[in-house]
Amino acid sequence: MNRETDFLVIGSGIAGLTFALKAAEHGRVLIVTKSNISEGNTNYAQGGICSVTYEPDNFEKHIQDTLVCGAGECDLDAVELVVRRAPELIKQLINWGVKFDKDQNGRYELAREGGHTEYRILHHKDNTGYEIERALVRKVKKHPNIEILEHHFAVEVLTQHHLGMLVKKSTPDKECYGAYVLDLKKKRILTILSKFTILATGGVGNIYHTTTNPSVATGDGVAMVHRAKGTIENMEYIQFHPTALYNPGERPSFLITEAMRGFGAILKTPDGNEFMQKYHPMGSIAPRDITARGIDNEMKTYGYDYVYLDVTHKDPKDIISHFPNIYEKCLSEGIDITKDMIPVAPAAHYSCGGVKVDLNGLTSINRLYALGETSYTGLHGANRLASNSLIEAAVYADQAAKHSIPMLDKVELQYNIPGWDYGGTSHPEEMVLITQNYKEMQQIMSNYVGIVRSDLRLERALKRLAIIFEETEQLYLTSTLSQSLCELRNMIAVGYLIIRQAQLKKESVGLHYSIDYPSTITAKEF
Ligand code: FAD
Ligand code: SIN
Repeated sequence: MNRETDFLVIGSGIAGLTFALKAAEHGRVLIVTKSNISEGNTNYAQGGICSVTYEPDNFEKHIQDTLVCGAGECDLDAVELVVRRAPELIKQLINWGVKFDKDQNGRYELAREGGHTEYRILHHKDNTGYEIERALVRKVKKHPNIEILEHHFAVEVLTQHHLGMLVKKSTPDKECYGAYVLDLKKKRILTILSKFTILATGGVGNIYHTTTNPSVATGDGVAMVHRAKGTIENMEYIQFHPTALYNPGERPSFLITEAMRGFGAILKTPDGNEFMQKYHPMGSIAPRDITARGIDNEMKTYGYDYVYLDVTHKDPKDIISHFPNIYEKCLSEGIDITKDMIPVAPAAHYSCGGVKVDLNGLTSINRLYALGETSYTGLHGANRLASNSLIEAAVYADQAAKHSIPMLDKVELQYNIPGWDYGGTSHPEEMVLITQNYKEMQQIMSNYVGIVRSDLRLERALKRLAIIFEETEQLYLTSTLSQSLCELRNMIAVGYLIIRQAQLKKESVGLHYSIDYPSTITAKEF
């Protein structure tokens, strides 16, 4: 079955929805999203969204903090673009109905997180992402030019390959014509033709055993572009959030926002001693790579399963008013954060790399844009500055809309794309074949390609992943298509990209730390 649209938006977090609202003023927009519209990393974001708002903060300081955190690997043009355009996009979000907290004088209340030298994080309590997603969903649902298909899973982006041509990485002028999309309820595959396709498929956290990301974050966009022979970069830089609630078996791991450390909470060992000063002069609010590695080192050296975050010295009323959701969640686990220290451990959180895009969000494939966490813009370099990702998604969504809209009338749909070939794929797969490989992949990635790596660990990881890859490809060729099989296949591709790009790095930089190259380039030295 064929569908047609001007803009096909894959994913419904801040990136996809911001783009949709802008594009819908000029053409028809079709949003496909694999779960309920609100499910995605955006909905779980806690700390807030960065923007220079009041003095003494200024653009130069935000730029400098981003560059320092990125350990010398940021793209200066991307950093300048996001930082300087942030206030305009924040104003747009507010006009669209997003409510950020204000103080008694009506000024926005700004928070601070790891690596920031100023208070510059706009927030809504401790559930900023939920508030942003709420406002955006409300607006897209009302827009007459936007159609939303929930429970629709994008399987592949369409290129000249689907016209029978040999497409390689080196093929010039690769083009995207839309996507094959699996309707998860009716179990049929739609061919959706579009003038412009926007990948806003979010993060990759589920390739690791412990993650703050919801289950939809399986790197689908990155894997699809990899298979379409587009450019993927920076995948070695996976950010582990230092403070996820230690609660074995809970998935995703519940985040304890870094804003709590900005508010004064202190990391301590189980015997109550501060330790972060050993690793960085900023102590508990050091950049994330250093904090996560510091905690990892304490845990491995002394055999702890977790460390503690202590906020008990702050006024209980202030704690509860700033962090109401964290307070409630911890209380439900028997931890009263106004009296008890919180057990925390690092968890996979954010992919600094992804589908390479230019300053307009355009990928190496014409008419295909990538936005938000799926993309690699160059903003984050080797380590993302906290709360810089929501704003990156908003700014690049605007850039991509401004770039694509003027071309709308010049682009034709490609009607020669064949429908999905169901041939030879009639056997339902055995679930255990998928779930076992899923578990193995997560073990491989967590144990060999986590916070600390080595040449040997990466080599072992690659060998083991290759076996799982072969088995899964075989299954893919012979089974009826399902979400779990597609996601496993995508996560294996993403794992492969992380390992290969990590192997090419013969030094430790930012989030990529190898014991074979111990002299790390971090925010400290840059
Ligand atoms: P997402 O919001 O993840 O949306 C991706 C969408 O794509 C989802 O709708 C998903 O269902 C859909 N999708 C995926 N694959 C497919 C497919 N194959 N077919 C169809 N649909 C698909 N950043 C900050 O700046 N500040 C914060 O305070 C902050 N806190 C965070 C807290 C947590 C717990 C987490 C997990 C992340 C946090 N981040 C924060 C990071 C930030 O939330 C994300 O980077 C950002 O929300 C990504 O937005 P996105 O639109 O790119 O992706
Ligand atoms: C947090 O609230 O600690 C998460 C912020 C982020 O990931 O940017």
